[in-house]
Amino acid sequence: MRLGCPRRYPALRPLTLVTTLFFISPVIGWRPWPHNKTNAHDLVFGDSKKFEGSSEFVRLRYHMGPVLTANITVHTIWYGTWERNQKKIIRAFINSISAVDSKHPSVSGWWKTVQLYTDQTGANISRTVRLGMEKNDRFYSHGKSLTRLSIQSVIKSAVTAKSRPLPLNPQSGLYLLLTSADVYVQDFCGQVCGFHYFTFPSIVGYTLPYAWVGNSAKLCPGVCAYPFAVPNYIPGLKPLKSPNGDVGVDGMVSVIAHEIAELATNPLVNAWYAGQDPSFPVEIADLCEGIYGTGGGGSYTGQLFNGEDGTTFNMNGIRRRFLVQWVWNHVVSYCTGPNALDQ
Ligand SMILES: *[C@@H]1O[C@H](CO)[C@@H](O)[C@H](O)[C@H]1NC(C)=O
Ligand SMILES: *[C@@H]1O[C@H](CO)[C@@H](O)[C@H](O)[C@H]1NC(C)=O
Ligand SMILES: *[C@@H]1O[C@H](CO)[C@@H](O)[C@H](O)[C@H]1NC(C)=O
Repeated sequence: MRLGCPRRYPALRPLTLVTTLFFISPVIGWRPWPHNKTNAHDLVFGDSKKFEGSSEFVRLRYHMGPVLTANITVHTIWYGTWERNQKKIIRAFINSISAVDSKHPSVSGWWKTVQLYTDQTGANISRTVRLGMEKNDRFYSHGKSLTRLSIQSVIKSAVTAKSRPLPLNPQSGLYLLLTSADVYVQDFCGQVCGFHYFTFPSIVGYTLPYAWVGNSAKLCPGVCAYPFAVPNYIPGLKPLKSPNGDVGVDGMVSVIAHEIAELATNPLVNAWYAGQDPSFPVEIADLCEGIYGTGGGGSYTGQLFNGEDGTTFNMNGIRRRFLVQWVWNHVVSYCTGPNALDQ
């Protein structure tokens, strides 16, 4: 969970202190762009550009905690101003995770790697992920600048609302807080594009696994919507055309995928992760940051597809295409995805 999880909340270790060891890398945020700061991937693999992250050094282990083996329901909170079409893209992605009839390579094929993870009883992660209830927080109930603590208050408001509260479902519910492009969240852009954790009973009243993902379109698309936007400091690099015509939201899709995969395999941050310090777990999507296809690694995305409309994607969903990062496959010990060329 680079994207993952602020374990030692709220004391975030600045990235600049993370110098040498992969294992002490803070699990605070995910950035698709292999930027000029060290990220987990660079730390593990250095310049060797091993095949799709394959490494003997990654010791992803199971720490005996629960994983999401029952049908997963994603309850969404739309914080701020969202257009109807933006919501449609994100809903279509979530619905595509368990869709049976998408064209290969598909989002449901991508989820198959996540399904390889099991709990103590040998039960696999659920094949079924569906959209649950949605809550609109149109009037920015906690302002336009959120901290990690106020994010929990936003979730509390959603599950305790007088009218149509989100259902409480700690066993198989995920709470996905999506902030619009005019909302700043603590560490957004500099260190994170999203993260996941669980709510504290002292704040929310329950322990609920949740994730936050922000629309970076205004604040830092070159960081969080890469490769559909590129950082200013790299002259000459051209952004790719995004598959659903919305740079910020198309960029969010891969971050949402990253978070859902990690929430499923590590919902309470005591199940599947690598690293020796449980305060800074490195989770299944952190290990494959920036890898979207065969040969990916370093600053190369890997083999992608170009649509007849000039857009770039790597998998199909329900009547839409998406670009989604791969996740770590612990059976073969490298990152895998449905669009792998050797399958
Ligand atoms: C990367 O380096 C450039 C130039 O050294 C700097 O302007 C930019 O802020 C850096 N980006 C990050 C994400 O650190
Ligand atoms: C889980 O999802 C599957 C497939 O959608 C469905 O057939 C099954 O009834 C669901 N189980 C529960 C307990 O909701
Ligand atoms: C469940 O996990 C095991 C161990 O990784 C794997 O061999 C099996 O194929 C998985 N089952 C499904 C349905 O993914």
